[in-house]
Amino acid sequence: MERGAGATPQHSPGGDSVDLTPPAVAAEVFGDRLPLAEQYCAALATAGVERGLIGPREVPRLWDRHILNCAVLGELIPLGASVVDIGSGAGLPGIPLGIARPDLRITLVEPLLRRTKFLAEFVESAGLEITVVRGRAEQPDVRKEAGGADYVTSRAVAPLGKLAKWSLPLIHEHGHMLALKGSSVAEELERDRVELARAGAGHAQILECGVGIVTPPTVVLSVERVPRAEKRANKEANRRARRAQ
Ligand SMILES: C[S@@+](CC[C@H](N)C(=O)[O-])C[C@H]1O[C@@H](n2cnc3c(N)ncnc32)[C@H](O)[C@@H]1O
Repeated sequence: MERGAGATPQHSPGGDSVDLTPPAVAAEVFGDRLPLAEQYCAALATAGVERGLIGPREVPRLWDRHILNCAVLGELIPLGASVVDIGSGAGLPGIPLGIARPDLRITLVEPLLRRTKFLAEFVESAGLEITVVRGRAEQPDVRKEAGGADYVTSRAVAPLGKLAKWSLPLIHEHGHMLALKGSSVAEELERDRVELARAGAGHAQILECGVGIVTPPTVVLSVERVPRAEKRANKEANRRARRAQ
């Protein structure tokens, strides 16, 4: 990936010299908020590694595999939407998304204290308007605090069926779950079809974002939280299909 101008090598905690200069496309994605994305990249490469939130081997690929790969998710989210990012870990995808898209109202949900401390510290030091909630996505108090959103996002949190069960109660009817997934998403979708219908997911689509920005583009599974009547009809259709097999 072509590097942007003004590259200055920086150092990872292990002492190895790593170039953290953003690639040129980062300016397209983050605009005048690129310095915040650079601050985030530096935080991941230092405190993130020291506190065991990100593997040291990820440092050379923080921009393409993590920060840009997650920020491009904004292509699928309309202006001013509310977003709950579950299982944020060190802030992915929620923090790059919030840096690239200050119009979004973002809440990060993460159960582990070590991780929520890192998230809260970074959000405060960068002056971001992002809320951090400590807890598991399926907990009633988390649902109460973070629920009713337009979108729920996640990356590498759980298999699809379980993910839908945790995610869909956090959005309103017709809201969307956007799950960053790998190349085997189609098989995962087929495997967990029944669980998805049971959780109230419909209108599944496999989408790509970040074309021309990240290689390969980010693969996203989008599902809609369908109204109750449609949920019942989908469950019934699945039952009939299983009986006919
Ligand atoms: C493999 S990490 C992925 C972190 C981040 N999304 C990323 O892509 O780098 C999975 C994260 O999900 C969190 N997690 C696990 N179960 C969860 C649940 N029920 N609700 C919310 N977060 C959960 C874990 O604590 C962990 O931080």
